[in-house]
Amino acid sequence: MPDLGQHPLIADRMARLRSVDCPPHEFRRYVADIARLLVLPATENFDTAPQAVTTPLTEMTGRKLARPIVLVPILRAGLGLSDAFHQMLPEASIAHYGMARNEETLEPEIYFQRFPAELAEAEVIVLDPMLATGGSAAAALAGLKENGARHLHFVCLVASPEGLSLLTERHPDVPVTCGTLDDGLNENGYIVPGLGDAGDRIFGTV
Ligand code: PRP
Ligand code: URA
Repeated sequence: MPDLGQHPLIADRMARLRSVDCPPHEFRRYVADIARLLVLPATENFDTAPQAVTTPLTEMTGRKLARPIVLVPILRAGLGLSDAFHQMLPEASIAHYGMARNEETLEPEIYFQRFPAELAEAEVIVLDPMLATGGSAAAALAGLKENGARHLHFVCLVASPEGLSLLTERHPDVPVTCGTLDDGLNENGYIVPGLGDAGDRIFGTV
């Protein structure tokens, strides 16, 4: 996995949004900026199929995406990434996965799910800014597989080494794109240096 966090644009937005002084309206904007930059690496292995094209000058064979696309923001914080991805992939359907980490057990609890009909044939991009213990992402990918998804991708802004290990161990078939890899988790399961609680910072809650 390339270290995208070294890219100057990602590094700059990341430093701004990590700051405790960054207010929600700026935080949301920097999250969306980084999300736009992650669309290309997240989709680079999508299959394409030949497509006949008539240009104003001649006939040629171009390429089109071989599969429909489904975006799956993990609620709530994944919503911070989904608009930027949808702008770049406007034909995508949006699934929702409501999941809240129990802050005592650190286990994810599912409270909502709604998937489109084309889940099985689609490129399915799961979006969540934070990969901490990895429990939420691993549970979301398992649930999507149970519902038929086969071509899965996971995108986050910040990952911990622990979360990345868990995800690749449980879902070795799922490519992961992450904005940056941080040092580790603290005793409360928060990513360090991290950015705090992404959902609260996006939505201005406590
Ligand atoms: C956060 C984050 C991930 C999860 C990561 O969501 O957006 O979904 O925690 O932690 P994990 O890797 O240890 O499972 P949270 O459960 O706080 O819900 P929210 O998005 O509604 O704030
Ligand atoms: N959830 C977050 O929003 N941030 C963390 O650092 C860990 C879990």
